[in-house]
Formats: sequence, C-alpha cells, structure tokens
Amino acid sequence: MNKLTRRAFLTGGSALAAFTLTQMATGSSAGAQQQKSSLLAQSRVLNLYSSRHYDTDERLYNGFTEQTGIRVNLIEAGSDELIERIKSEGSNSPADVLITVDAGRLWRADREGLFAPVQSDILESVVPSYLRHPEGHWFGLSKRARVIMYNRDRVNPTDLSTYEDLANPKWEGQILVRSSSNIYNQSLVGSLIAAHGSEETLEWCQGLVSNFARRPTGNDTAQIRACAAGVGNLAIANTYYLARLAESDNESDREIARQVAPFFPNQRGRGAHVNISGAGVVRTAPHPEAAKAFLEYLVSYEAQEIFAKGNNEYPVRANVPLDEELASFGQFQEDDVSAAVFGKNNPEALRIMQQAGWQ
Ligand SMILES: [Fe+2]
Repeated sequence: MNKLTRRAFLTGGSALAAFTLTQMATGSSAGAQQQKSSLLAQSRVLNLYSSRHYDTDERLYNGFTEQTGIRVNLIEAGSDELIERIKSEGSNSPADVLITVDAGRLWRADREGLFAPVQSDILESVVPSYLRHPEGHWFGLSKRARVIMYNRDRVNPTDLSTYEDLANPKWEGQILVRSSSNIYNQSLVGSLIAAHGSEETLEWCQGLVSNFARRPTGNDTAQIRACAAGVGNLAIANTYYLARLAESDNESDREIARQVAPFFPNQRGRGAHVNISGAGVVRTAPHPEAAKAFLEYLVSYEAQEIFAKGNNEYPVRANVPLDEELASFGQFQEDDVSAAVFGKNNPEALRIMQQAGWQ
C-alpha cells in the first residue's frame, strides 16, 4: 500500500468515526443509514482485512485500483486476530473482504457468521466447486499442495507412495513435520478423516508420531532445512516453501533446495492434499459491490498470474502458467474433496492429533 492510500484510509476512517458520532447524537437510524450509504458511495474504497503477508500481494491491490478506480485499504494481521476484530466491530465494521490462508480458517470465520453469500457467475465458473463454499461464503483464490519432501541422497522415491504409508514403521525416526497447532496439518488430518473416518485416522496419526525424527518445531521451511541436513529424511511441507528456497538470493538456501525433492502422494488414489488461500465478503461490508468486484478481479487471468508468480502458489484459474520452479515439480493429481470438509473436520482432527501425542 502506498502513502496515498494510507492517507486516504485515515481520512475515510475519520469520516466514518464522525458519522458514527452523528448517528449516536441524532439516534435516527433510517436517516443515518442513508447518510452512511451516501458517504460510503463517495469514498470509492475497499477495506481489505488480510492475513496474507506476501509483498507481492500489493501488486494485486494496485491492479484492482487501476482497473476500477477503487482504492484498497489494507489491514494486515493474523487471521484469528482479524476474525476477532470483525466480530468486535460488529455492524460498524469497516471490513469489506477478509482474505486468509487455509480453508480451515475460512471455515472458522464462516462459523462466526462473518461472511455474506456471494452469487457471481465469474467466481462460480473460474473457481472449481471443491475450492469454494457451496453457498458462496468464501472462494479459493490460490492453491497450495501439502506433500512429502525427501532427501535426494538418502531416500529412493520409489519407496514413497501415500500419506498413509508415512505411518509405516519403515520410516521410524525419519519424519519431520511442524506442530499440531498448525492449521495446515489440521487440514491435512481433516482430509484423512474424510477419506478413512476417525478411527483409522487416529491409528495413522499414532503411527506417524512414532516415526517423528524429532519433537515438532519450526515452520515448513525449518522442516525442509532439517531434511536437507539429515535430521530426518522426509518432511511434510507445502510446495511453495521449497520453491521459495530454490529461488532464494541466498546460495545456501538454493543448495538446500537442491538436496530436497517433492513427492506428490496418493497419485494412484485420491490425489495429493490441496488447500487454498481464499476470501469472502464480510456480512456487514459497507461496500459489498466493490467487495464482489474485488473477488472477481482476484480470479482474473492477470491477478492469477501474480498469485502464481508472487508466492509460488498454484492458480485456481485453469491455463494460467505456473511459476517456473513450481512447474519443474511436475503435474500431479489433486484430491478434490471439498475444502469445506477441512474446517468441518477440524475439531475432530485436533482431538485425534492430541490423542496421538502430536505436539
Ligand atoms: Fe505458509
């Protein structure tokens, strides 16, 4: 966000505050409502609450402004914080759109009643049905695959097959993965519950935990680094973390990326686990039309190219070229279970992970 938009936001914010004071003083809600709409109609802004912290996202917001003349005011924070903030702001919330990573978090926001249903032919035709809420409460904007990464020197990829096989005692002391508090892992376990039910998933989790190379620590990058260093020979991580290391300015990062390769599991079955970064229009959005237009812009060819190149993610729109590094990982079959299932299964996934002793 540039200085201009930042200033514009401050101006918009004080106008809103002034309006709220007027409303409190007059107590006239119909008149106040009218005043609010006309005030907001003039402002031509979109208030975006985002938990994505990627520098390249700014290009997306600027692209939208260029096309529509609508300025994007960005509020960045952790997703739980943003959800709490929208809840506590209530009907006066300036939030128009909430963007977050992981379908599990979108589900949480939806469970709190934060999203309005959006009906859009564009969003429905571009975003595959398994990557969006069935009634349009949220839409996937980019995909991330959570796969097995292996140490090239120590593992023969022909020994790898499925997520299920990671519980096999043959991998004892070899598996690196971040903690169970991480939503990516919770959603992965949610996908296993969808495929096998709770009982089998618990058994799988127990087998997986008993194969851990160490107590979970660090993020996905830390697992890939540890895999290269031989702390364990297999890591569970999202593909963009490996692509990022491979494209790093730092030679030692690139060396780590050369030592580790991605393996797409379950290619003879349901496919590799895919999650999304996604967004929904806030139920109390002061600018619902701009919000819908913004989501539609985010799935345009132009925006999808930025998603693909900016954070090494997979576009949701078909036929958008991938980032070079990501493309080098090869094509794969995706598990097309609805992303809505990850959230629905989240409490059960957490219970199972805890019971299995996944720290
Ligand atoms: Fe991430």
